[in-house]
Amino acid sequence: MITGASSGIGAATAKVFAGHGHDLLLLGRNSDRLEQTALACRKIDANIRIKILAQDLNALDLKLVEEKLKTISPLEILVNNAGIYEQASVAKTSSEMWENLFHTNLLSTVKLTQFCWNIFVENKKGSIVNVSSTLAIKPIANTSAYSAVKAALTNWTLSLAIEGAPFNIRANCVSPGIVDTPIHPFHHYDEPEKKAVEDKINRFQLLKNMGKPEDVAESIYFLANDKSKFITGSNLNVDGGISLK
Ligand SMILES: NC(=O)c1ccc[n+]([C@@H]2O[C@H](COP(=O)([O-])OP(=O)(O)OC[C@H]3O[C@@H](n4cnc5c(N)ncnc54)[C@H](OP(=O)(O)O)[C@@H]3O)[C@@H](O)[C@H]2O)c1
Repeated sequence: MITGASSGIGAATAKVFAGHGHDLLLLGRNSDRLEQTALACRKIDANIRIKILAQDLNALDLKLVEEKLKTISPLEILVNNAGIYEQASVAKTSSEMWENLFHTNLLSTVKLTQFCWNIFVENKKGSIVNVSSTLAIKPIANTSAYSAVKAALTNWTLSLAIEGAPFNIRANCVSPGIVDTPIHPFHHYDEPEKKAVEDKINRFQLLKNMGKPEDVAESIYFLANDKSKFITGSNLNVDGGISLK
């Protein structure tokens, strides 16, 4: 199950999982873009079963999730990727912005994970990958609410790892740096404006380029599947070295 599979990192992650023959339950709000992801996955492997669920994570009907899950292979992996990014100074971060970020990027993820947790416990196997951010560890100006909420997500992953281990449930975090997805307004800019922003961002990267969704997707896949079976409670920065700058 991958949340936020209708765009950016989540859509790229779905394609990587499809390439490895996994059945998929794809969650997001925009049903057209979820369908596009599903179509791309079916082109990669026509034999996998793919279900989509277009719902707001903040009002998710878990009964619908349960029904969809019954139609694919037993749930083994949860990728908590859905998220929003909003910026404002400390003084100007409204209660509404705090609540939006808290609900979408943390509490709704917690609720969905608790639902999946019961399945993992019963099956004595599960792997959870939370998509956090380098800002969780190293905030920048105008990201206080986003950074604090992501910090909570990163820290919560450790509790999942501790309490999950007796049930063979692993939990890890992937922390992207700056990745070119629709979450950033510059993603939609026309050239040459976009190029100017990219050049500026690239100067902050040790590895000179900002990330692509596929870069993060491969890391998510690594932490999700059994190749990383001895890894739990880790936080993998996928950030071109930006957190060292
Ligand atoms: N891109 C970066 O630079 C970067 C850096 C650090 C961390 N991240 C994290 O990476 C994750 C993926 O972001 P992205 O860059 O791929 O952004 P994106 O392209 O905007 O994708 C965000 C995804 O989350 C879904 N989503 C947002 N709010 C939702 C809600 N209330 N209910 C259901 N789905 C919801 C969106 O669904 P719809 O489009 O269908 O509404 C979309 O599929 C996020 O958690 C983000 O914080 C990104």
